[in-house]
Amino acid sequence: MTRILSGIQPSGQIHLGNYLGAIKNWVEEQETAESFYTVVDLHAITVEHNPEALRRSTQELVMGLFALGLDQSKSKTFLQSHVAQHCQLSWLMECTVTFGELNRMTQFKDKGKGDEKVRAGLFTYPALMVADILLYQADKVPVGDDQKQHLELARTAAQRFNNAYGDVFVVPSPMIPSIGARVMDLQDPTRKMSKSSASDAGLIYVFEEPESIQKKLRKAVTDAEGRVEYEPNIPERAGVNNLLEIYSAIDGRSPTEIASEYTSYGSLKSDLSEVVISHLAPFRKRYHEYLTDPSELGRQLKIGSDAAQEVAQKTLESAMSAIGFLKPIP
Ligand code: TYM
Repeated sequence: MTRILSGIQPSGQIHLGNYLGAIKNWVEEQETAESFYTVVDLHAITVEHNPEALRRSTQELVMGLFALGLDQSKSKTFLQSHVAQHCQLSWLMECTVTFGELNRMTQFKDKGKGDEKVRAGLFTYPALMVADILLYQADKVPVGDDQKQHLELARTAAQRFNNAYGDVFVVPSPMIPSIGARVMDLQDPTRKMSKSSASDAGLIYVFEEPESIQKKLRKAVTDAEGRVEYEPNIPERAGVNNLLEIYSAIDGRSPTEIASEYTSYGSLKSDLSEVVISHLAPFRKRYHEYLTDPSELGRQLKIGSDAAQEVAQKTLESAMSAIGFLKPIP
């Protein structure tokens, strides 16, 4: 059976990029694969954070994932900080990947910006992410396009470790959707939609009010061409391409086919609003039900971390033994 692992940071509300690039696949994969999904709270402290806000956004994110369709009877969702093996394997991974490899990670360059005061954990973060994946012997890792470089590092680390110390890890492959892998900001379609954007006018949140979604899509930046055509290789058309891709990722038809039905940006935007709002409506309803009754959450998370620990401990023991540590007496 295929094993799946993926993760998301609790650093803000879930947006359409998270959903179309990753979570939509998670919900589909849980039907057929043995799937583990983790809210990576350890990763959230690599940048300045507020403890109370972290607690709140972790809770909201877990409720959000359940509202979007993750189901503990089909897959296992858990908090990274509840499974100590992540930190333990992470040290072995820090001693497997190189300084040069970490130094080339574009996310560190973007977020660190050469500042001496950034937390050391921001630099070593990719080694922890490698551990997240390898602990579960994951065959596939469903992620958006921006995680490609991290996945490449996970493959390199698994191969290097296996070559040096014996076959311990499955070498994971990324699972990136053909459409929706890089949802762009509605106000600046040259940048990806991101929780860390300066303004939220370019982001659509999955549980956002319909009127607000409609307004943001109406104001989405396009261009002066006035033709609705899908031209993914023309950077100047990024705004229209993005709208067509969002449409396609939800509707299932190709962006070109969708484009052929429209002659104006206005009607494209207004139909897209309807498509997005009606797709998200049931999720929003479920999310609000959770918000009024979050009592079950702790118990659900325990189901997830118990199952995760069982798999993680086995892998950790194999890796520790292979690398040369003596086994403790049970
Ligand atoms: P994070 O929290 O930034 O994003 C969660 C998932 O959403 C995808 N994503 C997008 N997809 C399409 N378009 C966008 N604009 C967009 N923005 C975000 C991301 O690709 C990701 O799949 N480092 C990871 C978290 C992580 C992880 C892991 C992932 C930690 N350990 C192990 C997989 C496996 C991150 O920061 O994702």
